[in-house]
Amino acid sequence: MHLTVEEQKMLDGSYGKTVQKCMKVLVALGDIYGAEHMIEVKNVHAPGVSYRVTGNAGLNYVKEASEDAIFRVPMTLNTIGIDYENWEKMGFPKEFAHKQIELVEAYKKMGAITTNTCTPYLTGNVPMMGEHVAWGESSAIVFVNSVIGARTNREGGPTALAAAVTGRVPAYGYHLDENRKGTHLFRVEKELKTDKDFAVLGYFIGQIVGPGVPVIDGISERPTLENFKALGAALASSGAVALYHVVGFTPEASTKEVVIGNDIEPIVFGQAEYDKICAKFSENGPIDFVVIGCPHVSINEMRDIANLVRGKQLKSALWVCTSRQVKDLAERMGYTTTIEEAGGEIVCDTCPVLCFTLERGYKTVATNSGKMAHYAPGLWNLQPTILNVDDCIQAALDGKWEVK
Ligand code: F3S
Repeated sequence: MHLTVEEQKMLDGSYGKTVQKCMKVLVALGDIYGAEHMIEVKNVHAPGVSYRVTGNAGLNYVKEASEDAIFRVPMTLNTIGIDYENWEKMGFPKEFAHKQIELVEAYKKMGAITTNTCTPYLTGNVPMMGEHVAWGESSAIVFVNSVIGARTNREGGPTALAAAVTGRVPAYGYHLDENRKGTHLFRVEKELKTDKDFAVLGYFIGQIVGPGVPVIDGISERPTLENFKALGAALASSGAVALYHVVGFTPEASTKEVVIGNDIEPIVFGQAEYDKICAKFSENGPIDFVVIGCPHVSINEMRDIANLVRGKQLKSALWVCTSRQVKDLAERMGYTTTIEEAGGEIVCDTCPVLCFTLERGYKTVATNSGKMAHYAPGLWNLQPTILNVDDCIQAALDGKWEVK
């Protein structure tokens, strides 16, 4: 691989041991994928920052790096394992919380911005189209590649750290034009209105394409940011999609022809396909737990939830997961008070998938998230039901869901 003088100095150890180790990791990765050179990245979003995921091995790795390295480019942090300010009240064990705080502080020492969210694009980390970045967290990767049109591979904890320390990634994968073309074509023949509809579409497509690049044609109305968020998270969890195109609406897909060949037969997504996925995630009966905010909710979603619960009392537990930044804004708007008065919890910095196991005896969960529904059975032994937000709240108010 060709290295610039500066990159060679990093590899030779001129900037210290951690920089050298990080550059070695990136060169080895580049060699595996046949990269010819490095690319400078504008910023990094670090995954694997929950102590539940890293354990002591990851914590020690980051702490050691923080002894002699400082980030060359800005880094935001993904969702962590605790609510940073509310962990004691929520019942997180002290030892776990302290380890988590140590991990965040080590990242902070190197220059990380402690956003602690899977929606960094809602809290100030908004790359420009065409910019090269190094992002982790599947739902954020697919958003930044597809909706923003910036370029990232799927970074893990160590490679994201290496990218922030060196400001570089090897030039391969989604950084290159040739890997951003569509591999599968889908034609949507059903009107999509809610985030749930987009999550169901994403779940359907992800199962078929795995790590492919789906091109979605036939959507007539411009999806909202929240629709895209739901679509991407489901695509990345039932499959391993890091990039998709929606013809006419995502920045690299002004027409079908620019992203996929004419000879590819479309796979249809209509009412029958929609109903089949819904049937997989729909149970009549008691709902113990309702989770909204996978990925973390925006201020618009927070407002909608507050409007739905205002003046009412929930029978089921409700977690609304979000970033601290969105929560602060929601507090100013009075939304958090409204949700808490109804009996809901606003959970910041973490989520049910990445937090320390909180054993509360729940058996069923309702969610508007394809990703949450995907992980709930394996991680928590929870039977999931996917509903749109209105129905999630109705289920929480009634303590049960009956298929309409
Ligand atoms: Fe975010 Fe946790 Fe879902 S990190 S995308 S809320 S699994």
